Amino acid sequence: MKVSEKLTLPCGAVLPNRIAKSAMSENMAKPVFYPGEEFYNAYKTWVDGDVGLCISGNVMIDSRYLGEANNVVIEKGLDNTKELMNWAKASAGKENHIWIQLNHPGKQSPKYLSKEPVAPSATPLAPPLDKMFNQPRALTEQEILEIIERFGYAAKTVKECGFDGVQIHGAHGYLVSQFLSPAHNKRTDKWGGSIENRMRFVIEVYKKIRQVVGDSFPIGIKINSADFGRGGFTNEEAVFVAKSLSDLGIDLIELSGGSYETPVMTGAQSKTARQNAKPTF
Ligand SMILES: Cc1cc2nc3c(=O)[nH]c(=O)nc-3n(C[C@H](O)[C@H](O)[C@H](O)COP(=O)(O)O)c2cc1C
Repeated sequence: MKVSEKLTLPCGAVLPNRIAKSAMSENMAKPVFYPGEEFYNAYKTWVDGDVGLCISGNVMIDSRYLGEANNVVIEKGLDNTKELMNWAKASAGKENHIWIQLNHPGKQSPKYLSKEPVAPSATPLAPPLDKMFNQPRALTEQEILEIIERFGYAAKTVKECGFDGVQIHGAHGYLVSQFLSPAHNKRTDKWGGSIENRMRFVIEVYKKIRQVVGDSFPIGIKINSADFGRGGFTNEEAVFVAKSLSDLGIDLIELSGGSYETPVMTGAQSKTARQNAKPTF
């Protein structure tokens, strides 16, 4: 295998090579939540540089819960499709792909953006992060179902605007990752407890997206190989979730690790991460 070789995904789409740019939050949306010309320019540069797969920075699915102040948002009622279509044109006529990463931050929405963030359970982030993030409240089942619908709506919009695929952000301690982690998900209903229950949310998000975008549109996910935190999502569980999503037909799985509490994904080893890191492989 060479990095220059094409890669055919399970859905039938073909990536022109094996080089991918991971998500990097652009943090440069214009008010209100729309991607200006800068997005087109940045992605055109990557595409012209022959990056086979360009994954966007996290695009939020609910303007009430942002990860950062200048996130792009895709939700019903927001009229930013013209700008999204312009961004998607950066790969028009090329084999190179641009995928949009969809995210809900859950409790990792800072104080200045969310008065009361939502999460699987009302468990605050560990000190000193509790100073920067408000105490979350637990989602009701109705709200969980609404968030799944929001992922579906955003993915459908991504496809309609001309992008080449979507990636679910299931890593780094955001909402999907919170559901997967026994340290953050203390629910006693069908959305918490066993790994089968904790992964129900991401499985339902995947199924909803697949239902709205069809069988031939690429869907990927970024998940943690482990949370690297005490009582968190383990390496064995990551393998189980990856296999389950693969059996359902997911096209690409990107592995990362960590969360705001154990920020191994930044390269910085926090004291907590150092104390808690216990890779099981
Ligand atoms: C400026 C910057 C912004 C980032 N934004 C995102 C993001 O929006 N979504 C995401 O999944 N990862 C984001 N990341 C993390 C990277 O995609 C990547 O996961 C991280 O550098 C660790 O690499 P690894 O996942 O291969 O271990 C960002 C990284 C940087 C440096």
